[in-house]
Amino acid sequence: MQPLHRAFRPQWSLRCGPLASVSWLLLRASRVHSSLPTTTCSSPEKQQENEVQKDFSSRLATGPTFQHFLRSVSVPQEKLSSPEAEDPPPYLTVDELLGKQRKVYLETYGCQMNVNDTEIVWSILQKNGFLRTSNLQEADVILLVTCSIREKAEQTIWNRLHQLKALKTKRLCSRVPLRIGILGCMAERLKEEILNREKTVDLLAGPDAYRDLPRLLAVAESGQQAANVLLSLDETYADIMPVQTSPSATSAFVSIMRGCNNMCSYCIVPFTRGRERSRPIASILEEVRKLSEQGLKEVTLLGQNVNSFQDSSEVQFNNRVFTNLSRGFTTNYKTKQGGLRFSHLLDQVSRVDPEMRIRFTSPHPKDFPDEVLQLIHERHNICKQIHLPAQSGSSRVLEAMRRGYSREAYVELIHHIRETIPGVSLSSDFIAGFCGETEKDHLQTVSLLREVQYNMGFLFAYSMRQKTRAYHRLKDDVPEEVKLRRLEELITVFREEATKTNKTSVGSTQLVLVEGISKRSPADLCGRNDGNLKVIFPDVEMKDVTNPGFRVRAQPGDYVLVKITSASSQTLKGHVLCKTTLKGSSAYC
Ligand code: 5AD
Ligand code: SF4
Repeated sequence: MQPLHRAFRPQWSLRCGPLASVSWLLLRASRVHSSLPTTTCSSPEKQQENEVQKDFSSRLATGPTFQHFLRSVSVPQEKLSSPEAEDPPPYLTVDELLGKQRKVYLETYGCQMNVNDTEIVWSILQKNGFLRTSNLQEADVILLVTCSIREKAEQTIWNRLHQLKALKTKRLCSRVPLRIGILGCMAERLKEEILNREKTVDLLAGPDAYRDLPRLLAVAESGQQAANVLLSLDETYADIMPVQTSPSATSAFVSIMRGCNNMCSYCIVPFTRGRERSRPIASILEEVRKLSEQGLKEVTLLGQNVNSFQDSSEVQFNNRVFTNLSRGFTTNYKTKQGGLRFSHLLDQVSRVDPEMRIRFTSPHPKDFPDEVLQLIHERHNICKQIHLPAQSGSSRVLEAMRRGYSREAYVELIHHIRETIPGVSLSSDFIAGFCGETEKDHLQTVSLLREVQYNMGFLFAYSMRQKTRAYHRLKDDVPEEVKLRRLEELITVFREEATKTNKTSVGSTQLVLVEGISKRSPADLCGRNDGNLKVIFPDVEMKDVTNPGFRVRAQPGDYVLVKITSASSQTLKGHVLCKTTLKGSSAYC
């Protein structure tokens, strides 16, 4: 993930500070009566609801129109920032903005960022009087948090909408009508095209519009479609503490920045998630402290471009501090100056709790200056694990992808990282069959996989996305079957190399953070080692070096030492030696 191209200006969807109170609502008054079963259902609750809807519609008719919102964009800024401008729209009462105990079912697709966004969404809805359900059948509102990165991800959502349509049609009229919302990247990418194509959808909210959900749901409640797909220059949801979905979890994700400025030529992310912006360090530290107090043992710092972090929220910081890039790497955008950078954040976060492991994802290889690498090496609770998305092993293809580095610069960075952080685990993303990729280019990717010997890999067939530079300037000329064949080859080579690499740890002792019972066997436990690889071991009694003389069984959240006895491309197996601590683990090996 990377910097934003200068020409990037999403049409009518960019929001910045002074215009923050101006939002776009898409209202379809025609549906008010047609979609509501007013004649067939006559329960008192229904009649009351219809009255409310009629009242709502008449107030809506006299309220501001879509044009009004467009016009208000040109209102002078002083007026916009006046208190009156921030009052809620007069046609929605405070009561209508509350959830009335409606039950919300949230379904998440795509990346870890979406998992975190789901927690933010739930935090907002919970505060506004909604209830959560994990039972689809009892839901009053179904919200899909969507992904657009590849065509297949979107197809999954269209298929899901077909299933949900049946649920909506079959809904008993004695219940409140079911409302369905599309949130996240797909809402942002397709905007009203979704509403036109799939009438079953009641609301859309882009990744920067989640605060507006209570209002959008209030509009949808009246049987109208509602949308807010404004992108923001400053929304980081810094003040919203995500609600952890699984209370027993040992680890949590903490969002530290949003958006991407890189404009890799194949990638839709800068268009769906907008410009890069970082969350103030103080609020990140507050969240990490809270998680530590709750007993969580691992935090993963999250962002599209996590190591480009730059907190400029506190003006006193020297703005003459230059960005240090990895050697041989460039950006597609003017590099930023000043502010607090990723190394500072990592340092601060890792000081919160010496028993808390720190990871981060997803970084860009360009942002690994020596100070970051040195800190990872020195700090005992920062995991020695780095994701370095290469995307291709061919300099020619990397150039077409606008990644800002050559194969040689990437390989040099790998050597430098391995020298600085001995034993580091490396993972990567690769795309097979990008525009113009020849067989020779593909073989160079194969050879990079062999040369680097990653511990983990995420491999994808190229999927052309509208709006991207590749869509406008390049030809998607690798036939589908060739893409898939190349992808298969990459997967095979990656597995062979990862198996070889992982087998070198057989006989070693690894520190494992216990997650719980293994899915494969109730007699086994599973957890993750420092390199984030899954480790499985029998659930037996062991000595507890933190409590001499006692024997215990491992619990989720415990650190244990495991002697590795076998390895595959994705998993290590072994037997447990003892319970220990993160800080003291090396002393007990
Ligand atoms: N087609 C295939 N894979 C893609 N990725 C991003 N955009 C595309 C695309 N259009 C992959 C990249 C990125 C990961 C998150 O998804 O490898 O690192
Ligand atoms: Fe940004 Fe996409 Fe490139 Fe990642 S792949 S750096 S999200 S443009």
